Amino acid sequence: MPLSGKNLLGIAGLPVSDIRLILNSARSFREISARAIKKVPTLRGRTVINLFYEPSTRTRSSFEIAAKRLSADSLNFSASSSSVSKGETLIDTALNLQSMRPDIIIIRHKAAGAPHLLAKHCGDCAVINAGDGMHEHPTQALLDALTIEDKKGRLEGLKVSIIGDITHSRVARSNALLLKKMGADVWICGPPTLIPIDFEQYGGTVTYDMLEALSGADVVMMLRTQLERQQEVFYPSVKEYFSLYGLNRKKLSAAKKDVIVMHPGPINRGVEIDPEIADGDLSVILEQVTNGVAVRMAILYLLLGASEEGSK
Ligand code: CP
Repeated sequence: MPLSGKNLLGIAGLPVSDIRLILNSARSFREISARAIKKVPTLRGRTVINLFYEPSTRTRSSFEIAAKRLSADSLNFSASSSSVSKGETLIDTALNLQSMRPDIIIIRHKAAGAPHLLAKHCGDCAVINAGDGMHEHPTQALLDALTIEDKKGRLEGLKVSIIGDITHSRVARSNALLLKKMGADVWICGPPTLIPIDFEQYGGTVTYDMLEALSGADVVMMLRTQLERQQEVFYPSVKEYFSLYGLNRKKLSAAKKDVIVMHPGPINRGVEIDPEIADGDLSVILEQVTNGVAVRMAILYLLLGASEEGSK
């Protein structure tokens, strides 16, 4: 069964049935990555372009690995070494790439809405949002949901606390939307300067008190302080930030005993999370990364192969 839409632009427009389909498909694709020969012919002859205007380690690598494991041809487009540096616009770049007949363009861009603009102009191929500004990062929320379900067996009814720089976080927005749709009890926490006043529209209860957010939590999702997006000073010092909103062993003891600790990466060690917690027994941070490949294989398959001859 394919996804209900032609593109994957955000969690906001994604029905619960599609979320469930992606998570279930990812579980079956995960098995391929555990084999000695990690490749199936499902998307042979298909072409995937990674169009990244912002840096990435996890998302770009895992989309490329996902495409390769499904036998698709993948091209990594780096804006800095392309004609973007000569002033070519996003639309012109995309139209030129589309003329080479790719099947999917995966885009990361600093401007919110860039994937939607691309989808409007590039009707011949599917578009996946790999992170648009401070708006959404849907594939991150999906891999996070898979990780939580693996560990907890469900999403519904879990207390999930998302803590840190909420304002600049597309991960926070996509996760709040997805977890709310799936029936989780979402808590949003950070300094008042780093939480938009209207954030509750995305779902969840806002608190500025980290212990309230941590109390009885099943899942704690720490976020990076995004200095590259901050034009002003949002907190007096890193020391003060860590003291109020950094996760350490003492604060984490307020959560449930079997709490899991998540972080989308990259981590600022000692700023939002104590390395002892990031590397400790309760951390599932690297499992999130592993699940990223499976979720992205599932999405490529469901957008391209599921409706046709594609079968594993
Ligand atoms: N989580 C995430 O988006 O990481 P990258 O920026 O490395 O892709």
